[in-house]
Amino acid sequence: MKINALFLAAAAGTALARSHCKASESGLEFGTDIPGTYGTTYTNPLNSSFQTLNADGFNTFRIPFLMERLTTEITGDFNEDYLEHLVEAVDYVTGLGAYAVLDPHNYGRFNGEIISSTDNFQAWWKKVATEFADNDLVIFDTNNEYHDMDESLVVSLNQAAIDGIRSAGAKTQYIFVEGNSYTGAWTWTDVNTDMSSLTDTEGKIVYEMHQYLDSDGSGTSETCVSSTIGKERIEKATAWLKENGKVGVIGEFAGGNNDVCKEAVSGMLDYLSENSDVWAGALWWSAGPWWGSYMYSMEPASGAGYEGFMSTLKPYCP
Ligand SMILES: *[C@@H]1O[C@H](CO)[C@@H](O)[C@H](O)[C@H]1NC(C)=O
Repeated sequence: MKINALFLAAAAGTALARSHCKASESGLEFGTDIPGTYGTTYTNPLNSSFQTLNADGFNTFRIPFLMERLTTEITGDFNEDYLEHLVEAVDYVTGLGAYAVLDPHNYGRFNGEIISSTDNFQAWWKKVATEFADNDLVIFDTNNEYHDMDESLVVSLNQAAIDGIRSAGAKTQYIFVEGNSYTGAWTWTDVNTDMSSLTDTEGKIVYEMHQYLDSDGSGTSETCVSSTIGKERIEKATAWLKENGKVGVIGEFAGGNNDVCKEAVSGMLDYLSENSDVWAGALWWSAGPWWGSYMYSMEPASGAGYEGFMSTLKPYCP
């Protein structure tokens, strides 16, 4: 069918494998200081952790970073040191044959202000994509979790990013677009239906939605609503993807280390697999060296998520 054809046609040996063993690898976005200091405010994900998780079957790593650390002004020059840290992480991941998702973790904001100039945003993305244009295993994620913005602006910013990326000559890569309301899957059909109008000359848009399973869907509690909440929260978004002929990915999900959450996560991943015509997989939030005792930490070997959840995720790894 049409959607499978999209992935197969784009394949050239690197089709976006439909696996649920994918994760974010935090570090470069840590801390609020701008520009901040490497090793104090923020850090790089560890190559050894990418390697361990890849050996466990993880085939895609989302790498959050801050736009303001890369360019002090949105139209400014790169901070070469920060760019180098980002490139190192990306190179290591793609050297493993895995996908590296570039995730400006900015919520549609720059220096705390909603990004209102689509021209500036397009120019920023063109410059960033130029650096990675030759790497087929890079995925561009336009921005993390737009929220409390005009829907028309969210759509325009996503389109500007797509156009900027393609104008840089980056033609082979997937582009993950995100919606308003923190790109939640459970509210997608209430707030983000206009996102269906996005266009890409290369036909490689993937709709990134986030879904947590706690009562307010924020991913701040170890308690999941019920053992079936995972599937329930993505049903309407699944129907939307099918009706509109789109492909989606769960770009963030997690659960506390307990039986209810494990069942809820398994139920969600089973449902994604049953609907693999429209879902490309799911990325756990999050690994990274500085998470410490964070309830969802997927950092090998002692992160709470890595210790508690790997046996649950293992069946979904390729
Ligand atoms: C991680 O791998 C990248 C890419 O191979 C390399 O440039 C970088 O130096 C490595 N980092 C460390 C700390 O070894």
